[in-house]
Amino acid sequence: MATSHTDVHLAIIGGSGLYKLDGLTVVDEVYPETPWGYPSDKILIAQTAPSAPKIAFLARHGHQHQHSPTKVPSRANMAALKHLGVNAIIAFSAVGSLREEIRPGDFVLPTQIIDRTKGVRPDTFFDNGILAHASFANPFYAPLGDLVASHVHVLENDCRLHRDKTVVTIEGPAFSTRAESNLYRSWGCDVVNMTAIPEAKLACEAEIAYQMVCMSTDYDCWRESEEPVTVQAVMSAMGRNAVNAKRLIQAVLDTLIDVEKHQEVLQGIKGTMQYAIMTPKH
Ligand code: ADE
Repeated sequence: MATSHTDVHLAIIGGSGLYKLDGLTVVDEVYPETPWGYPSDKILIAQTAPSAPKIAFLARHGHQHQHSPTKVPSRANMAALKHLGVNAIIAFSAVGSLREEIRPGDFVLPTQIIDRTKGVRPDTFFDNGILAHASFANPFYAPLGDLVASHVHVLENDCRLHRDKTVVTIEGPAFSTRAESNLYRSWGCDVVNMTAIPEAKLACEAEIAYQMVCMSTDYDCWRESEEPVTVQAVMSAMGRNAVNAKRLIQAVLDTLIDVEKHQEVLQGIKGTMQYAIMTPKH
């Protein structure tokens, strides 16, 4: 798994509709084989300016959207990013809204996750002779969320940013039934997607600070007055959301040029797995 970049501290993971970044100079592309196989796609190493820190960009589903949520090679993605030196990830995801006030086009910074995947996705690095129990009570890294939220003013087209929300991750690929959608609402979930799990869990095990930015594309199917969500609706909303996602990313990267000032964010959660490993050292 040889790559020459070990100084890339921040990665952006693009979800549905966000397959590339604008306004950045790509200085390299890497596609390393990891012990868990190859990542979803080539990882782009890019900069906003020659003096700016390098960041990594990875399209979660591949640039041609070739990986279904169930088949995204999340362990390879995390391992490859970790190997580049990544300590912090801002991950974008299209979501359905389970709340009236979260309108399509709005962005959401979740603080909690409910896992409704079916246990078929590999969601740990510790399944092969070494056992560890990661602390996953707070799956997202608040300082990273605060950093993203501090740039809310760059969002256009009446896009609101909602904080402290709960995302429920379903297995897919089919969208939810109306009964499920209402069940998730009764559980206190605010948005629904197919990708926060296992990504957030693996980031935690890899000691990578992780914040998901959810981009609302639809009202799922709980609203009786509205047509249930379709791929067409999601994709057309995603096109509009991508503009705001790119504006947000550019603003965050411009701030992070001051590396010293943002050490807390960029150093992330290093060392948090220190006491999580159960298997004795030999
Ligand atoms: N991604 C975008 N909209 C969604 C929905 N309604 N359910 C699950 N994932 C989604």
